[in-house]
Amino acid sequence: MSSRAFSPPSVAMARAPFNLFAAAFVLYVSGRSVSAINVSLPISAPGGSQPLSPTLLSFSIEQDRWPDWTGTNARNQFTHSALLNYAALTGQPPNIRVGANSEDHTFWSPTVTVEDASFPPPNSITPYPEATSITVGNAYYSLSRFLPSGTHMVWGVNLGADNVTNAVNMAKAIVGAFRTLAVQLSGVVLDRIEVGNEADLYKNNGLRPRNWTVQEYVADWENVAGAVAEAVGINDRNDRVTLQGAAFAGQGFTPRQIFDLGILDSPPGRAISVISQHQYSAAFCNGGDFPLVSFMSKAAVRGNLTVFAADIAATHAKGLIYILGETNSIACHGAPGVSNTAGAALWAIDYTLQAATLGIKQAFFHEGVGYKYNFVSRIRAPHGGIRGTPAYLPLS
Ligand SMILES: *[C@@H]1O[C@H](CO)[C@@H](O)[C@H](O)[C@H]1NC(C)=O
Ligand SMILES: *[C@@H]1O[C@H](CO)[C@@H](O)[C@H](O)[C@H]1NC(C)=O
Repeated sequence: MSSRAFSPPSVAMARAPFNLFAAAFVLYVSGRSVSAINVSLPISAPGGSQPLSPTLLSFSIEQDRWPDWTGTNARNQFTHSALLNYAALTGQPPNIRVGANSEDHTFWSPTVTVEDASFPPPNSITPYPEATSITVGNAYYSLSRFLPSGTHMVWGVNLGADNVTNAVNMAKAIVGAFRTLAVQLSGVVLDRIEVGNEADLYKNNGLRPRNWTVQEYVADWENVAGAVAEAVGINDRNDRVTLQGAAFAGQGFTPRQIFDLGILDSPPGRAISVISQHQYSAAFCNGGDFPLVSFMSKAAVRGNLTVFAADIAATHAKGLIYILGETNSIACHGAPGVSNTAGAALWAIDYTLQAATLGIKQAFFHEGVGYKYNFVSRIRAPHGGIRGTPAYLPLS
């Protein structure tokens, strides 16, 4: 961290908002019951408890509209203020991962300055569709300097295209951007590179053959991530910049499977410091109705997280950190009337704290311009992605 970096207050302060949220949640639940509920709260923390990470709640940003979030010539003051408001509560700006579906559709080009992207037409279910092709230049990555000082980042690299040249170009551009004076002075730090997003879905979305296996994934990843790590000088998991592993969509492939296939013994595997999985409680890809009440169900909230228990245990047994590198209420940008309600905010508190109790260090809530489940979104624009307005309004 440079001397201009954000300096966090004490851990006790950092934890306070979460304790308040927890108390509010208990009150909410008890308020709905017919008789009083007595809740005993210990004065000191139980023996096995761990400090909550001040970045427990972090954000994942869809890569296609990254410049809208940051600003291009000057920082986007709205995004910057929102993240600083968060930092004032927790003691540290949230970690930011940039990638997701569009990570596997991005190419680096020496002739593009910031970004060229093409978007499919909007429809009522998906008023703000993701770009199908994105070409970026070096300046795209150095927009990272517009985030608050002290922000730690994870950047995605394209594995979907299975093109080593492009993956290496992207990784060099990312690492190169963080070596520029402007990014160094900004106090924004690159922690990890993620090679490939939700590779367990490649066989469904056309990026690999229908019969593609986890064995083939491990070979592909070792090939592409190996070239990436070598090109940018990432050698092991104690380096300043390391690799984020897995990033699977669900249980299609699991961390346990890739550990058993020896991924951690491969040269790039030795640089994996963090294992990431993704989770959504439902999916709105084809529309549908989702009862908000199910998001108030303790059993449902817990059930959506305990599915990872064996992978969390296996990850910790390898001495690695476990995160949900992408998550939110309902996949495909959220469902109107559910993801954008106060109920969803209550759900997020319960879900995030429950994740922490299971040994999940951070939950990166996915955000995109016009998505219904956003934590950070201007109310006026773009209407929370609900009204189906095709007009695209930038955040700044
Ligand atoms: C791989 O990427 C490089 C660099 O962008 C490009 O020149 C080349 O055509 C790509 N190869 C294939 C097979 O798409
Ligand atoms: C996940 O959450 C959704 C929405 O609340 C619920 O319908 C579903 O049953 C939950 N899944 C599990 C495995 O608990």
